[in-house]
Amino acid sequence: MDGNGRWAERRRLPRIAGHRAGVEAARGVVLACAERGVEVLTLFAFSSENWRRPQREVGLLMELFMTSLQEEASRLDEHDVRVRFIGDQTLFPQRLREAIAEAERVTRRNGGLLLIIAANYGGRWDLTQAARALAQRAAGGDLEPEAIDETLLARELCLYGLPEPDLFVRTGGEQRISNFLLWQLAYTELYFAECMWPDFSPAELEDALHAFATRQRRFGRTGDQLEPAEHA
Ligand code: FPP
Repeated sequence: MDGNGRWAERRRLPRIAGHRAGVEAARGVVLACAERGVEVLTLFAFSSENWRRPQREVGLLMELFMTSLQEEASRLDEHDVRVRFIGDQTLFPQRLREAIAEAERVTRRNGGLLLIIAANYGGRWDLTQAARALAQRAAGGDLEPEAIDETLLARELCLYGLPEPDLFVRTGGEQRISNFLLWQLAYTELYFAECMWPDFSPAELEDALHAFATRQRRFGRTGDQLEPAEHA
């Protein structure tokens, strides 16, 4: 969800106003995904590198996460959305951790869209904690290092058990992954939107989905090997 700061600066507003507008955009996209039958949506709300921002912006973002969660939890629940957070929460203020736990608790039985919010998340952090978990098992004699394969590693990652993402969308005009789901994006279709995140409306989402529908996904095969229906 890139471009909140620039959206605000272009309007001569403080950066936090861009983040507030970003929450509005997130609400629209979440509800559009829920209505469209998307199974899983992962939003990158705060990366492990975002702590490097000015302390004031980080503090205001933490406040915004908390108030948004408290305000949105019941609306998400009404739309049958289940919320889950990934990332290292240990550095978050206690009140924010409580709001996260409460939003997860209230929505835990919902069967519609699974909304995953990546907060203090980094793809390298995820891979590192997975490697550590495997190393601990190996050191404890529970696991032979030779037995470590992609399946075992994937089991230790935050999103284990969920389908790999079909589509990655980044707004704000930059064309990079910025330490998002490094392992899971191996075969994901990448889509870069020029607009800033607060301007990413459900109509922009439709554009991204249409672009996705034109892609031919070969997963290492040749085009001729694909089923006719897949052969776009
Ligand atoms: C990146 O834009 C955006 C962020 C670091 C914060 C994203 C958070 C939200 C949109 C709020 C969503 C909240 C929830 C609870 C889902 P930027 O500040 O890097 O923009 P810039 O590149 O223009 O400076």
